[in-house]
Amino acid sequence: MENIKKIPVILDGDPGHDDAIAWVVAKASPLLDIRAVTTVCGNQTLEKTTYNARRICTLIGLEAPIAKGRPRPLFTDPMVAPNVHGQTGLDGPVLPEPKMEVQDISAVELMARTLQESDQKITLIPTGPLTTIASLLLTHPELKDKIAHIYMMGGGIAYGNWTPAAEFNILVDPEAADIVFNSGLPITMAGLDVTEKALVFPEDFARVKAVGNKVAEVVSEWLEFFYIFHKNKGYTGAPVHDAVAVAALIKPEIMQFRDLHVDIETHGEFCKGTTVGDVFGVTGKEPNARVILGIDREAFVELIIDSVKAYGEDA
Ligand code: RIB
Ligand code: CA
Repeated sequence: MENIKKIPVILDGDPGHDDAIAWVVAKASPLLDIRAVTTVCGNQTLEKTTYNARRICTLIGLEAPIAKGRPRPLFTDPMVAPNVHGQTGLDGPVLPEPKMEVQDISAVELMARTLQESDQKITLIPTGPLTTIASLLLTHPELKDKIAHIYMMGGGIAYGNWTPAAEFNILVDPEAADIVFNSGLPITMAGLDVTEKALVFPEDFARVKAVGNKVAEVVSEWLEFFYIFHKNKGYTGAPVHDAVAVAALIKPEIMQFRDLHVDIETHGEFCKGTTVGDVFGVTGKEPNARVILGIDREAFVELIIDSVKAYGEDA
């Protein structure tokens, strides 16, 4: 088999059950070379998302350097989601104590060092608020041309999930999102338009568990826990939002995309944090994002199952 030229990536997130599953999928992919992992406050405090990141990396054997982001959004107060992800941010299965230590540099400096040292452009995969990515762009503008693409989970052209208009990741740090969406960098946006269709049904949880290794067991229990909040809201499955951002990079053929101009509302009583997509081209502005609008749900579930299979029998 010819040597696949791997895509160098940096994972940035607020684990978070769906961030965790996204990282399981990313680590399992033969297409990706994970150069670094960085954390951001979002689903839970920075301390908790960082501890979770270390435990996830230990579970999946991901030995990339880990660094902490900012303890709060650029201008607003932190906003956590214990109602969705629990007090730890990753409630449910017992996880191994972390073997990976946190680097003694910030997430931005780890990202900057990784970009500087790479002989290839690097793809960033943020699955939480965009605080770290925006901070990188503000403090290291000279490294923008080392960023190949940003595959992010966040926003929603049609609706929000934390307010009627705004999705959680964007709402937590709308100024950061505004900086990223106006950066001129290629962006693929996995917003609620697609992630609400990326449902993993309870019968799928059992298929994941049946793979029979440790990672499969943990992922099935993450799905079970993540489904609790959504079932109570009337969902028929767990929307594994963040894994769609990774899937868009490694399996784009199962999705439908549309280039749109997206502005970020950073003010407003009702609409702060909205990703305003120019669906009818009325602004005349050039598209700045490739927005994912559809997904083959079954193929997405198969990707998650195939990913946990990659961890073998004794993982
Ligand atoms: O709105 C869903 C997003 O918010 C996901 O990234 C989830 O992990 C939370 O961060
Ligand atoms: Ca997330």
